[in-house]
Amino acid sequence: MTQKVALVTGAAAGIGAEICRQFADEGMAVGVLDLKLEAAQKVVDEIAAKGGKAVALAADVSDRMQVEAAVAKLRDAFGPVTVLVNNAGVAGWIPFEELTDEVWDRTMAINLRGPFIVTQTVLPDMKAANWGRIINISSSSAQSGTARMAHYSSSKGGLISFTKTLALELGPLGITVNNIPPASIAGTVMYEETKHLMPMTPEQAAAMMPVRRLGEAEDIANAAVWLASEKTGYVTGQTIGVNGGRVIS
Ligand SMILES: NC(=O)c1ccc[n+]([C@@H]2O[C@H](COP(=O)([O-])OP(=O)(O)OC[C@H]3O[C@@H](n4cnc5c(N)ncnc54)[C@H](O)[C@@H]3O)[C@@H](O)[C@H]2O)c1
Repeated sequence: MTQKVALVTGAAAGIGAEICRQFADEGMAVGVLDLKLEAAQKVVDEIAAKGGKAVALAADVSDRMQVEAAVAKLRDAFGPVTVLVNNAGVAGWIPFEELTDEVWDRTMAINLRGPFIVTQTVLPDMKAANWGRIINISSSSAQSGTARMAHYSSSKGGLISFTKTLALELGPLGITVNNIPPASIAGTVMYEETKHLMPMTPEQAAAMMPVRRLGEAEDIANAAVWLASEKTGYVTGQTIGVNGGRVIS
């Protein structure tokens, strides 16, 4: 069997980094793409220390030229890319009336235009292989709505619709497209830097979860491994809620 090549965006930290580690453990060669090259290289070094294959790629997902250059580097290193995780994202808690055009546009550019650009860039490889797995990391805030996150939840709602639409277009080509909407994932940069802005403490949030704990990056990576596998050829267009029961849909 030839080795699968995966690209994970926003992969220098948090959920993305854990997905890279687990993909490498599964035998995939991984492109660790992030704005932060040094931090991405640390993830690569960890993977290499365990005998896995990975390469660090610097790019802003909202910039098509940077993405194309990064994907070219990944292809040169390991070959065609047939697994993609659109994970890079930015969040923030801002009352709707205080949201600026700049914040709105930047959030949409990274969280929604980014997946559009990265997916278009790797798609030729998946089409040529007649096989592909696209996994979009959305957010439970898009399913439930979340006060003071209109920009963020709208971008992630767009990503869920993007998932459904691509599933319809790409299914006939052997490519599945699904999304995972996490709830609160403790320990990530995003969560730790914004938790003081949240309406309840982490302990209160955990107590309200049906499973009585916050999520961990590993919970999301476990689901990403499954969605990237050969076993999920009949799963597409779906929202796989890995959220401790916070949103049941
Ligand atoms: N942590 C949570 O509680 C939570 C909940 C729901 C959804 N999510 C989603 O999960 C994904 C990962 O979140 P996380 O908590 O691991 O975040 P994180 O902040 O820990 O890591 C995100 C990574 O993305 C990178 N990144 C940001 N903008 C980028 C860009 N323009 N181009 C390339 N890389 C970029 C950052 O440098 C960082 O390394 C995000 O899409 C986020 O919206 C997270």
